[in-house]
Amino acid sequence: MANESSDAFVFFGATGDLAYKQIFPSLQDLIRDEGFNVPIIGVAKAGWTLDQLKERAKDSLEQHGGLEQAPFEKLTSLLHYVDGDYSDAATFTELRKQLGDAKCPLHYLAVPPSLFGTVAEGLAKSGCATNARVVVEKPFGHNLPTAEELNRILHQFFPEKNIYRIDHYLGKEPVQNILYTRFANPVFEPIWNRQYVRSIQITMAESFGVSDRGKFYDETGALRDVVQNHMLQVLGNLTMEPPTGEDHEAERDQKAALLKAVRPLKPEDVVRGQYNGYKKVAGVAPGSTVETFIAIKLFIDTWRWADVPIYIRAGKVLPVTCMEAVVEFKRPPRETFHEIVPVRSSHMRMRVSPDISIGFGVRIKVPGERMVGEDVELKLKSHATDDMPPYQRLLGDAMRGNGELFARQDLVEAQWRIVQPILDNVTPVYTYEPGTWGPDEAGQLIGADGPWINPQPPQGDK
Ligand code: BG6
Repeated sequence: MANESSDAFVFFGATGDLAYKQIFPSLQDLIRDEGFNVPIIGVAKAGWTLDQLKERAKDSLEQHGGLEQAPFEKLTSLLHYVDGDYSDAATFTELRKQLGDAKCPLHYLAVPPSLFGTVAEGLAKSGCATNARVVVEKPFGHNLPTAEELNRILHQFFPEKNIYRIDHYLGKEPVQNILYTRFANPVFEPIWNRQYVRSIQITMAESFGVSDRGKFYDETGALRDVVQNHMLQVLGNLTMEPPTGEDHEAERDQKAALLKAVRPLKPEDVVRGQYNGYKKVAGVAPGSTVETFIAIKLFIDTWRWADVPIYIRAGKVLPVTCMEAVVEFKRPPRETFHEIVPVRSSHMRMRVSPDISIGFGVRIKVPGERMVGEDVELKLKSHATDDMPPYQRLLGDAMRGNGELFARQDLVEAQWRIVQPILDNVTPVYTYEPGTWGPDEAGQLIGADGPWINPQPPQGDK
Protein backbone atom coordinates (compact mmCIF):
# COMPACT_ATOMS: atom_id res chain seq x y z
CA MET A 1 0.00 0.00 0.00
CA ALA A 2 3.07 2.21 0.45
CA ASN A 3 2.06 5.03 -1.88
CA GLU A 4 -1.43 4.00 -2.78
CA SER A 5 -3.92 6.80 -2.15
CA SER A 6 -6.68 6.14 0.34
CA ASP A 7 -9.97 5.44 -1.41
CA ALA A 8 -12.34 6.42 1.44
CA PHE A 9 -12.21 9.01 4.22
CA VAL A 10 -13.86 7.97 7.49
CA PHE A 11 -14.03 10.29 10.47
CA PHE A 12 -15.15 9.26 13.93
CA GLY A 13 -16.49 12.09 16.10
CA ALA A 14 -18.33 13.48 13.06
CA THR A 15 -20.68 15.62 15.13
CA GLY A 16 -17.88 16.97 17.38
CA ASP A 17 -15.82 20.11 17.65
CA LEU A 18 -12.78 19.03 15.64
CA ALA A 19 -14.92 18.00 12.69
CA TYR A 20 -16.76 21.30 12.91
CA LYS A 21 -13.68 23.52 13.15
CA GLN A 22 -11.13 21.66 11.03
CA ILE A 23 -12.30 18.59 9.14
CA PHE A 24 -15.21 20.00 7.09
CA PRO A 25 -13.25 23.12 6.06
CA SER A 26 -10.25 20.98 5.06
CA LEU A 27 -12.44 18.62 3.03
CA GLN A 28 -13.96 21.53 1.14
CA ASP A 29 -10.46 22.87 0.40
CA LEU A 30 -9.20 19.45 -0.70
CA ILE A 31 -12.17 19.07 -3.07
CA ARG A 32 -11.62 22.56 -4.51
CA ASP A 33 -7.82 22.42 -4.82
CA GLU A 34 -6.93 18.77 -5.25
CA GLY A 35 -9.93 17.09 -6.83
CA PHE A 36 -10.58 15.00 -3.71
CA ASN A 37 -13.23 12.52 -4.84
CA VAL A 38 -13.73 9.53 -2.53
CA PRO A 39 -16.57 8.54 -0.18
CA ILE A 40 -16.56 10.58 3.06
CA ILE A 41 -18.14 8.69 5.95
CA GLY A 42 -18.90 10.40 9.24
CA VAL A 43 -19.38 8.18 12.30
CA ALA A 44 -20.84 9.34 15.63
CA LYS A 45 -23.30 8.39 18.30
CA ALA A 46 -25.65 11.32 18.20
CA GLY A 47 -28.93 9.88 16.89
CA TRP A 48 -28.51 12.09 13.80
CA THR A 49 -29.51 11.58 10.18
CA LEU A 50 -27.35 12.23 7.11
CA ASP A 51 -29.30 15.43 6.48
CA GLN A 52 -28.43 16.70 9.94
CA LEU A 53 -24.75 16.02 9.28
CA LYS A 54 -24.99 17.91 5.97
CA GLU A 55 -26.58 20.81 7.83
CA ARG A 56 -23.71 20.69 10.33
CA ALA A 57 -21.18 20.73 7.49
CA LYS A 58 -22.86 23.80 6.02
CA ASP A 59 -22.81 25.58 9.35
CA SER A 60 -19.19 24.60 9.92
CA LEU A 61 -18.10 26.10 6.59
CA GLU A 62 -20.08 29.27 7.14
CA GLN A 63 -18.35 29.74 10.49
CA HIS A 64 -14.86 28.58 9.48
CA GLY A 65 -13.46 29.97 6.28
CA GLY A 66 -16.62 30.38 4.17
CA LEU A 67 -18.90 28.10 2.16
CA GLU A 68 -18.08 27.74 -1.55
CA GLN A 69 -21.04 26.42 -3.46
CA ALA A 70 -19.50 23.96 -5.96
CA PRO A 71 -17.04 22.20 -3.58
CA PHE A 72 -19.68 22.21 -0.84
CA GLU A 73 -22.18 20.44 -3.13
CA LYS A 74 -19.52 17.92 -4.06
CA LEU A 75 -18.76 17.39 -0.37
CA THR A 76 -22.39 16.67 0.50
CA SER A 77 -22.71 14.32 -2.49
CA LEU A 78 -19.75 12.30 -1.15
CA LEU A 79 -20.96 12.35 2.46
CA HIS A 80 -22.35 9.27 4.26
CA TYR A 81 -23.25 8.90 7.90
CA VAL A 82 -23.14 5.97 10.31
CA ASP A 83 -24.83 6.52 13.65
CA GLY A 84 -23.91 4.14 16.45
CA ASP A 85 -22.03 3.32 19.60
CA TYR A 86 -18.29 2.72 19.17
CA SER A 87 -18.47 -0.37 21.39
CA ASP A 88 -21.26 -1.93 19.30
CA ALA A 89 -20.14 -4.32 16.56
CA ALA A 90 -23.19 -3.33 14.48
CA THR A 91 -21.72 0.19 14.04
CA PHE A 92 -18.65 -1.26 12.34
CA THR A 93 -20.66 -3.75 10.28
CA GLU A 94 -22.61 -0.81 8.91
CA LEU A 95 -19.37 1.10 8.30
CA ARG A 96 -17.94 -1.83 6.36
CA LYS A 97 -21.10 -1.85 4.25
CA GLN A 98 -20.85 1.88 3.55
CA LEU A 99 -17.18 1.48 2.59
CA GLY A 100 -18.35 -0.57 -0.38
CA ASP A 101 -15.41 -1.39 -2.66
CA ALA A 102 -12.90 0.75 -0.77
CA LYS A 103 -9.67 -1.20 -0.28
CA CYS A 104 -7.48 1.36 1.46
CA PRO A 105 -9.63 3.52 3.72
CA LEU A 106 -8.32 6.24 6.01
CA HIS A 107 -9.90 6.45 9.48
CA TYR A 108 -9.58 9.73 11.33
CA LEU A 109 -10.16 9.23 15.07
CA ALA A 110 -11.43 12.70 16.01
CA VAL A 111 -12.46 11.32 19.41
CA PRO A 112 -10.87 11.44 22.89
CA PRO A 113 -7.79 9.18 23.24
CA SER A 114 -9.67 7.06 25.80
CA LEU A 115 -11.75 5.77 22.85
CA PHE A 116 -8.85 4.99 20.50
CA GLY A 117 -8.62 1.37 21.68
CA THR A 118 -12.38 0.72 21.36
CA VAL A 119 -12.58 2.22 17.88
CA ALA A 120 -9.39 0.54 16.65
CA GLU A 121 -10.64 -2.84 17.88
CA GLY A 122 -14.04 -2.32 16.24
CA LEU A 123 -12.28 -1.47 12.97
CA ALA A 124 -10.09 -4.55 13.17
CA LYS A 125 -12.85 -7.01 14.01
CA SER A 126 -15.08 -5.79 11.17
CA GLY A 127 -12.32 -5.91 8.56
CA CYS A 128 -12.29 -2.11 8.23
CA ALA A 129 -8.67 -1.91 9.46
CA THR A 130 -7.25 -4.12 6.71
CA ASN A 131 -4.87 -2.11 4.55
CA ALA A 132 -6.15 1.04 6.28
CA ARG A 133 -4.51 4.20 7.60
CA VAL A 134 -5.42 5.76 10.92
CA VAL A 135 -5.09 9.43 11.86
CA VAL A 136 -5.02 10.48 15.52
CA GLU A 137 -4.89 13.88 17.17
CA LYS A 138 -2.84 15.20 20.03
CA PRO A 139 -2.73 14.72 22.99
CA PHE A 140 -0.75 11.51 22.40
CA GLY A 141 -0.91 10.45 26.02
CA HIS A 142 -0.80 12.46 29.22
CA ASN A 143 2.79 11.54 30.10
CA LEU A 144 5.43 9.05 28.97
CA PRO A 145 3.77 5.86 30.33
CA THR A 146 0.33 6.73 28.92
CA ALA A 147 1.87 7.65 25.55
CA GLU A 148 3.63 4.27 25.48
CA GLU A 149 0.35 2.57 26.36
CA LEU A 150 -1.53 4.44 23.63
CA ASN A 151 1.07 3.42 21.09
CA ARG A 152 0.87 -0.18 22.28
CA ILE A 153 -2.92 -0.15 21.77
CA LEU A 154 -2.70 1.35 18.28
CA HIS A 155 0.07 -1.05 17.27
CA GLN A 156 -2.16 -4.02 18.09
CA PHE A 157 -4.30 -3.04 15.12
CA PHE A 158 -2.15 -0.84 12.85
CA PRO A 159 1.55 -0.97 11.92
CA GLU A 160 3.47 2.21 12.74
CA LYS A 161 3.76 3.16 9.05
CA ASN A 162 -0.03 3.38 8.82
CA ILE A 163 -0.43 5.61 11.90
CA TYR A 164 -0.53 9.37 11.27
CA ARG A 165 -0.27 11.48 14.44
CA ILE A 166 -1.27 15.06 13.77
CA ASP A 167 0.71 17.90 15.31
CA HIS A 168 -0.72 20.74 13.24
CA TYR A 169 2.47 22.81 13.68
CA LEU A 170 4.21 20.39 11.33
CA GLY A 171 1.73 21.32 8.62
CA LYS A 172 2.55 25.03 8.93
CA GLU A 173 4.41 26.60 6.06
CA PRO A 174 6.76 28.74 8.25
CA VAL A 175 7.68 25.74 10.40
CA GLN A 176 8.77 23.85 7.28
CA ASN A 177 10.51 26.97 6.08
CA ILE A 178 12.81 26.95 9.13
CA LEU A 179 14.22 23.65 7.94
CA TYR A 180 14.25 24.71 4.32
CA THR A 181 16.10 27.97 4.86
CA ARG A 182 18.71 26.29 7.04
CA PHE A 183 19.55 23.56 4.58
CA ALA A 184 18.95 25.28 1.24
CA ASN A 185 21.62 27.91 2.07
CA PRO A 186 25.04 26.58 3.01
CA VAL A 187 25.96 30.01 4.40
CA PHE A 188 23.96 29.43 7.59
CA GLU A 189 25.31 26.00 8.41
CA PRO A 190 28.85 27.05 9.52
CA ILE A 191 27.46 29.51 12.09
CA TRP A 192 24.59 27.33 13.35
CA ASN A 193 26.38 25.92 16.39
CA ARG A 194 27.94 26.61 19.77
CA GLN A 195 30.85 28.56 18.24
CA TYR A 196 28.57 31.34 17.01
CA VAL A 197 25.24 30.96 18.78
CA ARG A 198 24.89 32.65 22.15
CA SER A 199 21.36 31.43 22.92
CA ILE A 200 18.04 30.53 21.37
CA GLN A 201 14.60 31.79 22.41
CA ILE A 202 11.25 30.45 21.23
CA THR A 203 8.09 32.26 22.30
CA MET A 204 4.46 31.41 21.72
CA ALA A 205 2.43 34.32 23.02
CA GLU A 206 -1.37 34.33 22.88
CA SER A 207 -3.36 37.38 23.87
CA PHE A 208 -6.54 35.36 24.50
CA GLY A 209 -7.41 33.26 27.54
CA VAL A 210 -8.79 29.78 28.03
CA SER A 211 -12.42 30.91 27.41
CA ASP A 212 -14.68 27.89 26.78
CA ARG A 213 -11.94 25.26 27.12
CA GLY A 214 -11.68 25.40 30.92
CA LYS A 215 -12.15 21.71 31.63
CA PHE A 216 -9.77 20.52 28.90
CA TYR A 217 -7.17 23.12 29.76
CA ASP A 218 -7.27 22.46 33.49
CA GLU A 219 -6.37 18.81 32.82
CA THR A 220 -3.65 19.87 30.42
CA GLY A 221 -1.82 23.15 31.16
CA ALA A 222 0.56 25.04 28.88
CA LEU A 223 3.39 22.49 29.12
CA ARG A 224 1.29 19.61 27.78
CA ASP A 225 -0.87 21.77 25.51
CA VAL A 226 1.79 23.44 23.37
CA VAL A 227 5.35 22.92 24.68
CA GLN A 228 5.63 19.11 24.72
CA ASN A 229 4.42 18.98 21.12
CA HIS A 230 4.34 22.13 18.95
CA MET A 231 7.26 24.00 20.49
CA LEU A 232 9.58 21.00 20.73
CA GLN A 233 8.82 20.26 17.07
CA VAL A 234 9.84 23.82 16.19
CA LEU A 235 12.99 23.37 18.28
CA GLY A 236 13.67 20.20 16.31
CA ASN A 237 13.49 21.99 12.95
CA LEU A 238 15.70 24.75 14.29
CA THR A 239 18.47 22.56 15.69
CA MET A 240 18.47 19.11 14.03
CA GLU A 241 21.18 17.82 11.69
CA PRO A 242 20.46 17.86 7.94
CA PRO A 243 18.51 14.85 6.69
CA THR A 244 20.69 12.61 4.55
CA GLY A 245 20.12 9.84 2.06
CA GLU A 246 17.17 8.82 -0.02
CA ASP A 247 15.14 7.27 2.77
CA HIS A 248 11.88 9.17 3.23
CA GLU A 249 12.29 8.68 7.00
CA ALA A 250 15.54 10.69 6.95
CA GLU A 251 13.98 13.87 8.26
CA ARG A 252 12.15 12.22 11.13
CA ASP A 253 15.25 10.16 11.96
CA GLN A 254 17.34 13.30 12.40
CA LYS A 255 14.67 15.04 14.42
CA ALA A 256 14.31 12.01 16.67
CA ALA A 257 18.08 11.93 17.21
CA LEU A 258 18.00 15.60 18.21
CA LEU A 259 15.07 15.26 20.60
CA LYS A 260 16.67 12.23 22.21
CA ALA A 261 19.70 14.43 22.97
CA VAL A 262 17.68 17.09 24.80
CA ARG A 263 18.41 16.87 28.52
CA PRO A 264 15.27 16.08 30.58
CA LEU A 265 14.12 19.17 32.44
CA LYS A 266 14.74 19.73 36.12
CA PRO A 267 12.40 21.71 38.41
CA GLU A 268 14.94 24.57 38.63
CA ASP A 269 14.75 24.98 34.83
CA VAL A 270 11.06 25.89 34.93
CA VAL A 271 8.86 28.83 35.88
CA ARG A 272 5.11 28.33 35.77
CA GLY A 273 2.49 31.07 35.90
CA GLN A 274 -1.27 31.31 36.07
CA TYR A 275 -3.16 34.42 35.02
CA ASN A 276 -5.26 36.25 37.51
CA GLY A 277 -8.85 35.28 36.69
CA TYR A 278 -8.10 31.79 35.35
CA LYS A 279 -9.74 30.10 38.33
CA LYS A 280 -13.03 31.82 37.46
CA VAL A 281 -13.19 30.17 34.02
CA ALA A 282 -15.98 27.56 33.78
CA GLY A 283 -14.59 24.05 34.15
CA VAL A 284 -11.47 25.10 36.08
CA ALA A 285 -11.06 23.57 39.56
CA PRO A 286 -11.38 26.14 42.39
CA GLY A 287 -7.85 25.71 43.77
CA SER A 288 -6.22 24.88 40.42
CA THR A 289 -2.44 25.11 40.23
CA VAL A 290 -2.36 24.39 36.50
CA GLU A 291 -0.13 26.74 34.48
CA THR A 292 -1.35 29.06 31.73
CA PHE A 293 2.23 30.30 31.26
CA ILE A 294 5.47 28.40 31.28
CA ALA A 295 9.10 29.30 30.71
CA ILE A 296 11.80 26.65 30.51
CA LYS A 297 15.53 26.54 30.02
CA LEU A 298 16.97 23.54 28.26
CA PHE A 299 20.16 22.13 26.81
CA ILE A 300 20.92 19.81 23.93
CA ASP A 301 23.73 17.39 24.74
CA THR A 302 25.43 17.23 21.34
CA TRP A 303 28.74 18.58 20.08
CA ARG A 304 26.87 21.16 18.01
CA TRP A 305 24.82 22.58 20.86
CA ALA A 306 26.70 21.78 24.08
CA ASP A 307 26.22 24.59 26.67
CA VAL A 308 24.05 26.78 24.42
CA PRO A 309 21.11 27.83 26.61
CA ILE A 310 17.73 27.45 24.97
CA TYR A 311 14.68 29.21 26.36
CA ILE A 312 11.10 28.33 25.51
CA ARG A 313 8.12 30.33 26.70
CA ALA A 314 4.38 30.00 26.11
CA GLY A 315 1.43 31.71 27.68
CA LYS A 316 -2.19 32.78 27.49
CA VAL A 317 -3.42 36.40 27.89
CA LEU A 318 0.00 37.84 27.10
CA PRO A 319 0.23 41.27 25.42
CA VAL A 320 0.18 39.92 21.83
CA THR A 321 -0.56 36.83 19.74
CA CYS A 322 2.69 35.95 18.05
CA MET A 323 5.02 32.98 17.74
CA GLU A 324 8.67 33.23 16.82
CA ALA A 325 12.09 31.75 17.34
CA VAL A 326 15.20 33.89 17.66
CA VAL A 327 18.71 32.51 17.32
CA GLU A 328 21.08 35.02 18.91
CA PHE A 329 24.65 35.12 17.68
CA LYS A 330 27.67 35.95 19.81
CA ARG A 331 29.15 39.43 19.83
CA PRO A 332 32.63 40.09 18.37
CA PRO A 333 35.48 38.71 20.51
CA ARG A 334 36.96 42.21 21.08
CA GLU A 335 36.09 45.82 20.38
CA THR A 336 37.52 47.04 17.10
CA PHE A 337 35.95 50.49 17.14
CA HIS A 338 35.39 53.07 19.84
CA GLU A 339 32.16 51.59 20.96
CA ILE A 340 31.04 48.56 22.85
CA VAL A 341 28.99 46.37 20.57
CA PRO A 342 25.86 45.34 22.46
CA VAL A 343 25.62 41.76 23.65
CA ARG A 344 22.70 41.19 21.33
CA SER A 345 22.69 42.75 17.92
CA SER A 346 23.16 39.86 15.58
CA HIS A 347 20.39 37.32 15.24
CA MET A 348 18.11 35.30 13.00
CA ARG A 349 14.40 35.70 13.72
CA MET A 350 11.97 33.14 12.37
CA ARG A 351 8.39 34.24 12.74
CA VAL A 352 5.69 31.58 12.55
CA SER A 353 2.63 33.75 13.18
CA PRO A 354 0.67 35.98 12.75
CA ASP A 355 2.82 36.90 9.72
CA ILE A 356 5.44 34.63 8.21
CA SER A 357 8.86 36.18 8.08
CA ILE A 358 12.55 35.62 8.53
CA GLY A 359 14.69 38.50 9.75
CA PHE A 360 18.47 38.73 9.95
CA GLY A 361 19.70 41.17 12.58
CA VAL A 362 23.07 42.82 11.97
CA ARG A 363 24.94 45.89 13.16
CA ILE A 364 25.83 48.53 10.58
CA LYS A 365 27.64 51.86 10.74
CA VAL A 366 25.68 55.02 11.34
CA PRO A 367 26.57 57.54 8.59
CA GLY A 368 29.02 60.13 9.84
CA GLU A 369 32.61 60.60 10.99
CA ARG A 370 32.50 58.22 13.91
CA MET A 371 32.80 54.45 13.71
CA VAL A 372 29.66 53.71 15.68
CA GLY A 373 26.83 51.48 14.70
CA GLU A 374 23.16 50.73 14.97
CA ASP A 375 21.19 47.49 14.88
CA VAL A 376 19.04 46.78 11.84
CA GLU A 377 17.03 43.78 10.78
CA LEU A 378 16.99 42.65 7.18
CA LYS A 379 13.74 40.98 6.23
CA LEU A 380 14.59 37.87 4.28
CA LYS A 381 11.00 36.89 3.71
CA SER A 382 7.63 38.19 4.65
CA HIS A 383 4.17 36.89 3.90
CA ALA A 384 0.87 37.83 5.43
CA THR A 385 -0.32 34.30 6.29
CA ASP A 386 -0.21 30.63 5.44
CA ASP A 387 -1.37 29.83 1.90
CA MET A 388 -2.56 26.37 2.76
CA PRO A 389 -4.14 25.72 6.16
CA PRO A 390 -2.18 23.05 8.09
CA TYR A 391 -5.09 20.59 8.28
CA GLN A 392 -5.62 20.66 4.53
CA ARG A 393 -1.94 19.94 3.98
CA LEU A 394 -1.84 17.17 6.58
CA LEU A 395 -5.05 15.40 5.58
CA GLY A 396 -4.00 15.49 1.92
CA ASP A 397 -0.61 14.00 2.87
CA ALA A 398 -2.21 11.27 4.99
CA MET A 399 -4.56 10.33 2.13
CA ARG A 400 -1.53 10.02 -0.17
CA GLY A 401 0.38 7.97 2.41
CA ASN A 402 3.07 10.58 3.02
CA GLY A 403 3.95 10.45 6.73
CA GLU A 404 6.86 12.92 6.81
CA LEU A 405 4.89 15.72 8.48
CA PHE A 406 3.45 13.51 11.21
CA ALA A 407 4.79 12.73 14.66
CA ARG A 408 6.39 9.30 14.81
CA GLN A 409 6.15 7.14 17.94
CA ASP A 410 9.80 7.55 18.95
CA LEU A 411 9.55 11.34 18.52
CA VAL A 412 6.47 11.56 20.70
CA GLU A 413 8.09 9.46 23.39
CA ALA A 414 11.30 11.53 23.23
CA GLN A 415 9.21 14.69 23.71
CA TRP A 416 7.52 13.22 26.77
CA ARG A 417 10.88 12.12 28.19
CA ILE A 418 12.09 15.74 28.11
CA VAL A 419 9.15 17.14 30.08
CA GLN A 420 8.32 14.10 32.21
CA PRO A 421 10.23 15.24 35.37
CA ILE A 422 8.36 18.55 35.58
CA LEU A 423 4.81 17.35 34.84
CA ASP A 424 1.95 17.52 37.33
CA ASN A 425 2.53 20.84 39.03
CA VAL A 426 5.75 19.85 40.81
CA THR A 427 6.98 23.44 40.81
CA PRO A 428 5.20 26.49 42.27
CA VAL A 429 2.78 28.43 40.10
CA TYR A 430 3.06 32.24 40.23
CA THR A 431 0.16 34.56 39.47
CA TYR A 432 0.53 37.12 36.66
CA GLU A 433 -1.76 39.85 35.44
CA PRO A 434 -3.50 39.51 32.08
CA GLY A 435 -1.75 41.59 29.43
CA THR A 436 1.71 41.15 30.95
CA TRP A 437 4.59 38.90 29.88
CA GLY A 438 4.02 36.41 32.69
CA PRO A 439 5.41 36.31 36.22
CA ASP A 440 8.61 38.21 37.13
CA GLU A 441 10.23 34.89 38.03
CA ALA A 442 10.53 34.16 34.28
CA GLY A 443 13.00 37.07 34.12
CA GLN A 444 15.05 35.47 36.87
CA LEU A 445 15.13 32.18 34.95
CA ILE A 446 16.74 33.76 31.92
CA GLY A 447 19.02 35.98 34.04
CA ALA A 448 22.18 37.15 32.25
CA ASP A 449 21.18 35.29 29.06
CA GLY A 450 18.24 37.67 28.81
CA PRO A 451 16.23 39.65 28.73
CA TRP A 452 13.45 37.81 26.99
CA ILE A 453 12.80 39.02 23.47
CA ASN A 454 9.14 39.97 23.38
CA PRO A 455 7.77 39.49 19.87
CA GLN A 456 6.25 42.52 18.20
CA PRO A 457 3.59 41.54 15.67
CA PRO A 458 3.10 43.78 12.66
CA GLN A 459 1.05 46.86 13.46
CA GLY A 460 -2.64 46.19 13.42
CA ASP A 461 -2.23 42.59 14.65
CA LYS A 462 -2.73 41.88 18.29
C1 BG6 B 1 -3.45 24.02 20.12
C2 BG6 B 1 -3.63 24.31 21.58
O1 BG6 B 1 -2.87 22.73 19.95
O2 BG6 B 1 -2.59 24.99 19.55
C3 BG6 B 1 -4.17 25.72 21.78
O3 BG6 B 1 -4.52 23.36 22.15
C4 BG6 B 1 -3.29 26.72 21.07
O4 BG6 B 1 -4.25 26.04 23.16
C5 BG6 B 1 -3.08 26.30 19.62
O5 BG6 B 1 -3.94 27.99 21.14
C6 BG6 B 1 -2.10 27.22 18.91
O6 BG6 B 1 -2.13 26.91 17.54
P1 BG6 B 1 -2.08 28.05 16.44
O7 BG6 B 1 -2.07 27.33 15.15
O8 BG6 B 1 -3.30 28.91 16.64
O9 BG6 B 1 -0.83 28.83 16.71
